[in-house]
Amino acid sequence: MTRMIVTYFSATGTTEMAAEALTKATHAELYRIEPAERYTRLGI
Ligand SMILES: Cc1cc2nc3c(=O)[nH]c(=O)nc-3n(C[C@H](O)[C@H](O)[C@H](O)COP(=O)(O)O)c2cc1C
Repeated sequence: MTRMIVTYFSATGTTEMAAEALTKATHAELYRIEPAERYTRLGI
């Protein structure tokens, strides 16, 4: 069986929503890439 994974980085949540939609459509696994230090609204 082929396994798929959607990996994403999202600071504002926009890419996260797209990654979640892709995951549901393809039945892939979802993996969030986390920065070593979280970005703040001011840092974006
Ligand atoms: C600190 C920071 C720097 C970034 N620099 C770039 C960049 O130089 N070029 C680029 O194409 N995107 C850059 N991005 C945009 C990210 O790739 C973007 O956050 C990603 O497309 C996810 O979008 P989202 O946070 O709205 O979900 C940067 C994002 C952050 C948080």
